[in-house]
Amino acid sequence: MTITENIRDIFPASNDIPPEFSLKKSLDQREYLVDGKLHIWQGEMEDSLSPIYLKTPKGLTQQKIGQFPCLSAQEALLTLEAAGKAYDYGRGKWPTMPVAQRIECVQDFAYRMKEKRDEVVNLLMWEIGKSYTDSCKEFDRTVDYIEDTIDALKNLDRVSSRFEITQGVIGQIRRAPLGIVLSMGPANYPLNETFTTLIPALIMGNTVIVKAPRPGVLLNYPLLEAFKEAFPPGVVNTIYGKGRTISPPLMESGRIDALAFIGSSKAANNLKKQHPKSYRLRSILGLEAKNPGIVLPHADLDLAIKECILGTLSYNGQRCTAIKILFVHKAIVDKFLDKFTTAISQLKFGMPWEEGVFLTPIAEPGKPQYLQDLVEDAKNHGAEVINEAGGTINETFFYPAVLYPVNDQMKVYWVEQFGPVIPIVPFENIETPIDYLVQSDYGQQVSIFGQNTEVIAQLVDPLVNQVCRVNINSQCQRGPDTFPFTGRKDSAEGTLSVHDALRAFSIRTLVAAKDIDLNKRLITEIVREHQSNFLSTDFIL
Ligand code: G3H
Repeated sequence: MTITENIRDIFPASNDIPPEFSLKKSLDQREYLVDGKLHIWQGEMEDSLSPIYLKTPKGLTQQKIGQFPCLSAQEALLTLEAAGKAYDYGRGKWPTMPVAQRIECVQDFAYRMKEKRDEVVNLLMWEIGKSYTDSCKEFDRTVDYIEDTIDALKNLDRVSSRFEITQGVIGQIRRAPLGIVLSMGPANYPLNETFTTLIPALIMGNTVIVKAPRPGVLLNYPLLEAFKEAFPPGVVNTIYGKGRTISPPLMESGRIDALAFIGSSKAANNLKKQHPKSYRLRSILGLEAKNPGIVLPHADLDLAIKECILGTLSYNGQRCTAIKILFVHKAIVDKFLDKFTTAISQLKFGMPWEEGVFLTPIAEPGKPQYLQDLVEDAKNHGAEVINEAGGTINETFFYPAVLYPVNDQMKVYWVEQFGPVIPIVPFENIETPIDYLVQSDYGQQVSIFGQNTEVIAQLVDPLVNQVCRVNINSQCQRGPDTFPFTGRKDSAEGTLSVHDALRAFSIRTLVAAKDIDLNKRLITEIVREHQSNFLSTDFIL
């Protein structure tokens, strides 16, 4: 069969689905977690529709996974009350708890979470169309992240378990929580990216309101009970529904101390503006990116093609770190295009559970049409789709379209497509891609492909001041999670990594006393009698 025929036949009938991956029944979630109780919502519900269609006698039918609550502003305010009560102006059980005990709660949660692996992985496939391999990776990486966070906090705590005496002043410096955190993750990494802010925020002693992304609500449903059991009431609260209904009452209250948001800069800007005292709000934001790949004349082409395929098309290009535009030197562009399009034609596409599948249906409503419009716009300005079947659509499936030659008149040159459209720009002068980065609204990462030491070295120096990670002969990516992940301009605010996130969700606070006998006696007694959790030299091993 040709690629086009395969695309026409991409969706299965229900009896083609392996039993271990089929949806047994509609998952109707009415519960939401507030103040340690699972409340049952009786109001408006929202359908969770899978990007997967099924062949039926009536034709292709979009599979419904289930439903989830569409909460109102009133429930949002209830979560705020609960998080506020649990924090109690820093006097609550959670923010004053010894670090070792908070770690135990998080460990307990991780233990309960691991038991839900199969359920969550299956829902990742159905809800956001992520392949089985990548869904497993997302789950396992999240569990690793929790474990690494615990280790990093133990290290941090050990360093803080000592007194410093400088210029006649005794001090103990630790990191303390900020208050109430609103954590909003993205639909492309609904588990991992939500947890990379949620877990550090929690473990540092903050109380949290979590808004799960849409799509991405139901895959968190199996974890609700674990949140309820592992943490004291009000420490984790969940809300669901439309951001424009739920977020304004929270932000306008002025009681959100930290906003952890992964999404668009426009939405982030709106959220921040809703806070009446913006200087009180700490923001940790992961936003858009348009990471370029630059292929130099002497690049190892096979290596460059391999990394550019991963970079542009892993999870259908729906990663903030994806390579979203390629600059290929004119001396090698013909060879590159030939090898690149051949490599694409060999990628397996199909349903997320199929072995070896690389390209899958897209969950974001309206996305295929948006991508098609970008392709049309590029064609109107002189580009062509150069790969077989490029841009072919079947419902939610969009087959990768390689656009060549792309120029600055085309929308796809500037906007973040967040999907399988690959614009390729030929260049002669290295100033072309450098200037692109200077002009771009984004500044996350870049990948450079080449073998000439001198050229690479000369590129690294200007590029590190344009973006926050320069990848050499490697695709752009976030991991390993111990590396700092951030961006310039409209791409991020704040830095995340296992180590940095603990700092992002806490503030340094200290106890200081002049080095006189009275103070030495007081401090010594407090420490010896274990009268304070803060003033303490206890070590967590
Ligand atoms: O969507 C943005 C993610 O942080 C990318 O992470 O590079 O590990 O896929 P990744």
